[in-house]
Order: sequence, then C-alpha cells, then structure tokens
Amino acid sequence: MAGDRSGRLIFHAKFCMLFFMSGQTVHIKSFGCQMNKLDTALVTSALREAGFGFTENVKEADAVLINTCSVREHAEQRVLSHLGHLKHIKEKKPDMVVGVVGCMAQRLGAELLEHDAVDIVCGPAQILQIAELVTEALQDKKKAVAVTEKIRKAKPENQALEEFESACGIDDKAIPAQAFVRAMRGCNKFCTYCIVPYVRGPEVSRPPEAIIEQIKKLADNGVKLVTLLGQAINSYKYQAGDKTYCLADLFRLASEVNGIEWIRFVTSYPQDEFYDEILKAMAELPKVCNYLHMPAQSSSDKILRAMNRNYTAEQYLGLLAKARAMVPGIAIAGDFIVGFPQETEQDFQDTVELVKKARYKNCFVFKYSPRPGTTADKRLEDNIPLEVKRRRNIELLAVQEKVSGESSREFLGRTVRVLVEGLSKKPHLDSAEGQNLPQLVGRTAEDWIVVFNGPESLAGKFAKVKITRVSPLTLFGELSV
Ligand code: 5AD
Ligand code: SF4
Repeated sequence: MAGDRSGRLIFHAKFCMLFFMSGQTVHIKSFGCQMNKLDTALVTSALREAGFGFTENVKEADAVLINTCSVREHAEQRVLSHLGHLKHIKEKKPDMVVGVVGCMAQRLGAELLEHDAVDIVCGPAQILQIAELVTEALQDKKKAVAVTEKIRKAKPENQALEEFESACGIDDKAIPAQAFVRAMRGCNKFCTYCIVPYVRGPEVSRPPEAIIEQIKKLADNGVKLVTLLGQAINSYKYQAGDKTYCLADLFRLASEVNGIEWIRFVTSYPQDEFYDEILKAMAELPKVCNYLHMPAQSSSDKILRAMNRNYTAEQYLGLLAKARAMVPGIAIAGDFIVGFPQETEQDFQDTVELVKKARYKNCFVFKYSPRPGTTADKRLEDNIPLEVKRRRNIELLAVQEKVSGESSREFLGRTVRVLVEGLSKKPHLDSAEGQNLPQLVGRTAEDWIVVFNGPESLAGKFAKVKITRVSPLTLFGELSV
C-alpha cells in the first residue's frame, strides 16, 4: 500500500480523462504558504480536468482534501482539529472520502491513516496522482498512501511531476490577474529548525522554457502579476548545454512575455551567489518589482550558527545595503524566529537592533516550534519558555511597527500605482470617505497594501491612488484619474 507510485505512472495530457468522474464533488481546504496554495491550484486543475466539480460546503462534498503545512506545530494542530470535525461529518456520511495532501502527508505517511477520518495520504510530489487516488477511493472504498520514501535520497528530477506541473493549468482565481509559478522545488539549505528539506525533498530548478511557457499561458488568460516561487529562489540554477540560467535570466525571459506587467519572486536566502546579477536585473528591468523578501531569522551570530544560516549579522546587513545601493527605493521584508534554543535576552536584543537598522517594509515573526526529525530538535532542548517566546514576538513586532510607520508616512501626498486585488475584507475607511463606492484593496509593486474606494470592476486592473492617510502597514487614499 505504501510507497511512491509515481514511477509506474506515466502522465500525459489525456491522463485525467481516464478517470472522468462526472457529478462527483470535491471540497478543498488549504493551509500554509504560497507553495502550498500553488499545489492546491494544481490539484484543483487536475481534478477539474478529471471531471470533478467543486463545492464550498464540506457537507455536500463526495471527497474532502486538506492541503497541509508542517512548518510549525500549530499548523499541524489546525489540520488535526479539522480532521476531528470531518470525522463527525463522516459518521453521518460514511462514503465521504477524506484526503490529506502536502507536507504533513509526507511527514507522517501511513501513520495518518490511523486517524478514523483519513482515507488518502498524498505527499507534495504525488499530487499528479490525486485524481486517480480520489477516484479509486470513491469507487473501491480502499485507503491509500502515496508518499516518497527516503525523500532526501530520491532522484531530484521528477520527470512525471514536471510534466504534470507544466501541463496543468494553474487554477487559482483567488486574486484576479495574479498567479504563482514555481521556479524551484525542494530545499538544500538545511536550516536546523526547518522541516521543509525533509518534506519537499532535494532542491531542483525547473527548466526555464517550462516556466516561461506557463507564464505565457497565464498572460493569455489575463494574468498581469506573476510571482516566482522557490524556498531559496535566488539559488535557482539550470544548466542547458553551455548556459547556466540563474534567476536574473528568468527575469529577462519573463519580462519579454506580453501582458505580464509585474514579476515578483519569493523567498531569497541571504547569500552572495547570483546576488549582484539578480539586483542588476531588478534595477534594469521595469517589470521586475523592487521587492525582496530575505529572512534574517536572527541577528545573533551564535544563534545564526546554531540555525545553520551561513552568514553573520554584519554580512546580512551588507547584503541589504547593497540591495539599496543597486535598486533605489527597494522594499525589503524579513522573517524572524524568536525563542530558538539558547537564545538569551542579549541575543534577542541583537535581533531588535538589527530590525531597527534593516528598515524592513514589514517582517514576519514566528515563535520557535521544534519539528520532529530536524537537527535542532534532535540536538537542542527547546529551553525558552512559551511566555518568553510570546513576549519577544510581541516586542519585535512593535519595533517593526514603528519602523513601518516611519516608512509609510513617506507616502503621504504621493500617488502610487496599484494592482487592485478586489474588495477589502476589513472596513478601514469611514463612510464619509466612502463616496458610496465599495472599499477596495490593492498593492504597489513594492507590496505596500493600499485601501481606497472605487468600483469593484477595477479588480484585476491597475489604478492610481493618491495617499491621504497611513497606518504602519497600510496606505489609504483616493482614486486619482
Ligand atoms: N519554528 C518557527 N518558525 C519556523 N520557520 C520555519 N521553521 C520554523 C520553526 N520550526 C519560519 C522561518 C521561515 C518561515 C517560512 O517560517 O522564519 O522563514
Ligand atoms: Fe527551510 Fe532554510 Fe530551506 Fe527556508 S532556506 S525552506 S528556512 S531549510
């Protein structure tokens, strides 16, 4: 039952037709990062091709798929509590099929089948089998596991997966005119706290022509902003004959695609390799957004060493200075982990100082969460109490909020170009400002969030907004003609 079946499965464009399931409906719930959202979009597309319909209502679904995240324990707990809820639904609807897809499926494998609710376990490299797995589970009522065994030893190039990804549409209409495209799978960095290399496998860069073909198709379907994805995307490296393609080459090729107006990329690892090329291309190519997400994680050299991050705080700040010198106006975002084992108050204060100096647009702060099987979990005791992690988390965010507030104030009175995402979920503007038009949200090329009133028909289009008011993380303004 267990094992990687991708070897005996030859995917071709007509594959999905073999399992045409008219009338059956699927409900998909997705947890986690943008990489996971992209996997969900591919799964949705494959199931649609295979004839499945979709429902927002779990109780109406013939099959429920949960695309999962393992990066922190909390993410896994949310999945488990969702499975508990599905177990109750299954008591009344025993024929309903439940599948766990993604990182948690790869991490726990067959163990997940012990959960009463679970029928299918499907790792991130097996999503090409999803239509087959769901079809078989619905027909035969048999449980199935499809994960990669010994994932770090698996051959990194997975031809079947690449063909699947290239052939599948990216079925993600969540934000009009925007889409994600994977540049790389997996990760070889082995930061000691991180589960990703163990659940997403070795690093592999996708062929540039496959990436560009996808971008062309997306542009033909009205996509204007494409975000290239990779765990350490600035390591992108693809050898074709004598030529080694790096991320800067992808920028050049993607810039030539008509219809694409903005190109973003996440996430960058602080390293010298390709850095100058990437920044130079960013400065030269108008379509490449001046935005860099480059996590520092900590500013204590002792902690950085324990995390296996291959730079010092000084080197990291040097990389930021270079980015600002080569790309004036660049917006930089960061990630931090607080409460890593043995992080003293002084180590944490070093991080506070770095956040003040780095002048991020925004940063994400996470409490260290030990992940089973990682080096940090095996070798280091999780010795920072939860209250201390919480306090450090709040303190760091407060420091960043002040920095963000100073940066956002510089926008007052300026007019910015935004790509409109759609209706704003939160009511930010009071009705006096409302002019009877709904409240929209968009982002600048540098990823600043902008809220303003305008017609809903602007969703997926570019607009100019004059900034009249700011909060640390949001700019507010008026549509200008
Ligand atoms: N605990 C807390 N945060 C983590 N991250 C990755 N692994 C862990 C962990 N075990 C954070 C890092 C990374 C972001 C995606 O998640 O900051 O950049
Ligand atoms: Fe995890 Fe480090 Fe790879 Fe990022 S670079 S996915 S933190 S191992």
